[in-house]
Amino acid sequence: MKKVLVTGGLGFIGSEAVICLIENGYEPIIIDNLYNAKLAVLDRIEEITHVRPKFYQVDCTKYEETKAVFEENDIDSVIHFAGYKAVGESTQKPIEYYENNLGSALTVLKIMKEKDVKNFIFSSSATVYGVPERVPLYETDPVGNATNPYGETKVMIERILEDVSKANPSMNICLLRYFNPIGAHASGLLGEDPNGLPNNLMPYVSQVAIGKLPFLRVFGDDYKTVDGTGVRDYIHVVDLAEGHVAALNHLATNPGLVVYNLGTGKGTSVLELVHAFEEANGIKIHYQIMPRRPGDIDENFANVDKAFNELGWKAKLTITDACRDSYNFQKKNPNGIE
Ligand code: UD1
Repeated sequence: MKKVLVTGGLGFIGSEAVICLIENGYEPIIIDNLYNAKLAVLDRIEEITHVRPKFYQVDCTKYEETKAVFEENDIDSVIHFAGYKAVGESTQKPIEYYENNLGSALTVLKIMKEKDVKNFIFSSSATVYGVPERVPLYETDPVGNATNPYGETKVMIERILEDVSKANPSMNICLLRYFNPIGAHASGLLGEDPNGLPNNLMPYVSQVAIGKLPFLRVFGDDYKTVDGTGVRDYIHVVDLAEGHVAALNHLATNPGLVVYNLGTGKGTSVLELVHAFEEANGIKIHYQIMPRRPGDIDENFANVDKAFNELGWKAKLTITDACRDSYNFQKKNPNGIE
């Protein structure tokens, strides 16, 4: 069984990817420093899959500890999720964001080189496209000028990987640009578990739904969109996880460096999402229109043809599925994963 090192493997997306890897006959080895994840996620992965993956509480900016994991395991591929991810916080703590996100990627890549591990999948983001000139976004569209340090770390790591690929043509590197991941595992055991007040839309809506927060603040209704509220490409986290397995299978064909958007190809406005949530769950979501949030853009969605044509992957689950699964997770875990 091929061993896949999953850094940040107890996080929201990483843990779903671990499940998907197990279901597809891979052996995931998890590294996580538990900065933004709970150890209980490991128990839940086991509950879902009946497999308890090997886990190391290791910070992958730390060379020696991370190298020991490679030495103990015959790693075939790495999926690198580990990183700080809060946009607002990144504007307050740019040094920490650059140090941690670049440091972890560089440390893992350095060890991969030393150990001759050739396959690397990177959790990138649609944020690398900055403020789009037009939608849908294609993989060939210009990258750069992210609107915050978090996004800049994604741009920089992508550039580093291009150079690594040029210097090491036998390496297989895949940049996966995620659009907006939402939803949860259908069991309700795993889902998004933000610390404190959620920054992102879906966890906020879910917390309003269970009465933990009084109402949703809709940031702006004067965007150039269908109803004035911001439009994004929301992708169910289980579909996203499957995209990683599709990418991993493709790396076996030695493609060099490849880039894929992982989205649905469809835009949904904030109010459309709110109404879908209400319909899917038979509840009312109170909201108030507020001023725009600085840095937000009108509209953002992917062209997803490349992932379908080359990986045979496309998102199958709907916004309704995601709204149902997010609410189910939130109801079962009102205080997050404990
Ligand atoms: C943000 C990040 C992106 C990151 C992604 C993770 C920016 C510029 N981008 O995307 O880099 O990869 O999260 O999922 O911040 N909204 C509300 N009320 C809320 C929260 C959000 O109205 O309480 C609106 C926003 O204005 C936006 C939409 O909902 O129109 C989605 O927001 P959010 O979930 O925060 O994601 P993005 O900003 O698209």
